[in-house]
Amino acid sequence: MDFWEWYDRNFLAAQEHNVSIYELEWLILRLSDLDKLDLRLRSQNITQKITPELLTNLDCLWQKRLRNRIPVQYLTGSVTWRDLELQVSPAVLIPRPETELIIDIVAENCQDEIYKNGIWVDLGTGSGAIAISLAQYFAQAQVHAVDCSEAALEIAKLNAHKNQQQIQFHHGNWFEPLANLNLETKLAGIVSNPPYIPSLEVLNLQPEVTHHEPHLALDGGDDGLDAIRELIAIAPDYLISSGFWIVELMSGQAEIVRSLLKDNGKYTNIQIHQDYSGIERFVCANKK
Ligand SMILES: C[S@@+](CC[C@H](N)C(=O)[O-])C[C@H]1O[C@@H](n2cnc3c(N)ncnc32)[C@H](O)[C@@H]1O
Repeated sequence: MDFWEWYDRNFLAAQEHNVSIYELEWLILRLSDLDKLDLRLRSQNITQKITPELLTNLDCLWQKRLRNRIPVQYLTGSVTWRDLELQVSPAVLIPRPETELIIDIVAENCQDEIYKNGIWVDLGTGSGAIAISLAQYFAQAQVHAVDCSEAALEIAKLNAHKNQQQIQFHHGNWFEPLANLNLETKLAGIVSNPPYIPSLEVLNLQPEVTHHEPHLALDGGDDGLDAIRELIAIAPDYLISSGFWIVELMSGQAEIVRSLLKDNGKYTNIQIHQDYSGIERFVCANKK
């Protein structure tokens, strides 16, 4: 099969299946040593670089993408997030571009030494994306990461190793694994992208998400806020005075979370931050 014939056919097939043509390009670039210009300029040396075996493999993966709606990141088992190369599998949520901003917000708000040299926790670490990025940014800090999925923790450990970051991983339910570590009133910061989608909505997301991503990573209970309520209630026991608290959430939840933080009475400096699309995506605060 000729590469360009295959490419043109599948370019059209992507549009018919309502799949972004950039995903086709992404898959080709991930699996070959071509660059974007090769594709855009229809470079002649492509046919030498794409062997028949590679083309067969590309076709096999791409048909799974179109027919079974499997996300391309699960098909290749990898994703780039900030400057990290991360392994992913269906045991972990594919880290999203909008979540990248959580690190920038932390960096902007936590310039003092107490944060840079402090102890940080990423709750619900999944692939380890946030914890690894925190460890990279706060090179002097101690970073812990918690998840209740053993399979996710296995991936997160691999990713920390691959990206040469030291993180202490713990298995269990939110703060529970921290209880025996003598960390009460010792944390400089708590960061979390918890499950926040209302249970009924989880069943009606894009098929790529509903059918392939772990519901444990998505389902936040009836109103989506079960995990966030728990993080608000317990975090003050673990944070130092002025310790930083931040969560990611979905459109429509930020004002509710602001009220929950206010009503708790132990937080100050409550801020809402938007993502790249202008959605109120993060709420952060400091412990009083
Ligand atoms: C939305 S995903 C976030 C993954 C990753 N931090 C990211 O941003 O890509 C939420 C994570 O929380 C974990 N999780 C769900 N319930 C939990 C619980 N009760 N205790 C600890 N982790 C939990 C899930 O396994 C999942 O990895």
